Amino acid sequence: MKKFQPFIFCLLAAPLFTACSTSGQKEASEVITVQEEPFGEADGKKVTLFTISNQQGLSVKITNYGGIITSLIVPDKTGKPGDVVLGYDNLQGYLDKSPYFGSIIGRYGNRIAGGQFSLNDKTYVLAKNNNTNHLHGGVKGFDKVVWEAEVVREEKAVKLVLKYLSPDGEEGYPGNLQVEVTYIIDERNQVRIDYRATTDAPTIVNLTNHSYFNLIGDPAQTILDHELMIKSDYFLPVDSTLIPMGELMKVTGTPFDFSEFRRIGDSIDVEQTQILRGGGYDHCWVFTRSSNDPENLVSLFDPSSGRLMEVITTEPGMQFYTGNFLDGTITGKGGVAYKFRSALCLETQHYPDSPNQPDFPSVTLNPGEEYLSSTIYRFSIEP
Ligand code: GLA
Repeated sequence: MKKFQPFIFCLLAAPLFTACSTSGQKEASEVITVQEEPFGEADGKKVTLFTISNQQGLSVKITNYGGIITSLIVPDKTGKPGDVVLGYDNLQGYLDKSPYFGSIIGRYGNRIAGGQFSLNDKTYVLAKNNNTNHLHGGVKGFDKVVWEAEVVREEKAVKLVLKYLSPDGEEGYPGNLQVEVTYIIDERNQVRIDYRATTDAPTIVNLTNHSYFNLIGDPAQTILDHELMIKSDYFLPVDSTLIPMGELMKVTGTPFDFSEFRRIGDSIDVEQTQILRGGGYDHCWVFTRSSNDPENLVSLFDPSSGRLMEVITTEPGMQFYTGNFLDGTITGKGGVAYKFRSALCLETQHYPDSPNQPDFPSVTLNPGEEYLSSTIYRFSIEP
């Protein structure tokens, strides 16, 4: 194992990504369509479902309840559209029980050991909603609140801007946190998510999106035949409660080596302590690239459909989770029972338990600072 070496990341997301192009002479507001429909009610507030579609065959449905991506349609190699994310057909499904399908996660994506952390010599106690740990923002995280929503049409893109003011003390976190999450659709087949937050008192922030991908477009099949490449030499080994042990482990020669394209199912079931702990992959990979590197860090390929998804992010890590807690008891869209490993998540984020691990990149946000993070999920076809 290698001792962790801190490194600096530039969180100025906007300059990382090249400008998008439009097709033809028309402006995006003319070629990218947006539909709004009522999606029910939560916390006494009306919830809306937005459908944003471009001319290239990408169509995404997003609701302002939890900022959830409920559907993401992209064409396969024959041009046939398919929905590549898990979810429910209606709001009630999400209200009843959801393992964070497609949602925005906050204030803290992933686990905080023992459900507590200290900041400026004060200890904050959070919900222990995952055995002895705190997970994904607590009992009622950002995935379960109604966000203010606004559609902004720009020359080359359509944006869905979601805003939420998380009050001081919510779920035990300090400071009033003003959060803005923007979904951006342009004429490329990608979904870009920009995260922004400010606070009036020192706090911690680690936002992500928890989409469950199945690039076959058929969640009745597992993702074990998907091929994955993660440009990363290290992952974070975890203890039995999935909390990082503080060191980086080299992936070389282990089932965690995705530095070249590799079938996910190849080593997922080998007798290996680290794998067994997560019931499959449920670990954070570390990106050691230098700052301002705009290249894709992760590529996911499904040979049967030809769909390729690339992930580009400003974040220093990514939790790769293979749907190990799906067990067929949840029936999702179209009446499909979501079985073990029928989807996977690629959650770009800071490392789990960072508030308690001083050697990890900081997740502290102070008044006067701006939390900025950006991730793109880009789709294409490989013959
Ligand atoms: C994350 C975690 C997993 C699991 C899922 C939600 O990916 O790392 O262990 O909790 O969320 O089921």
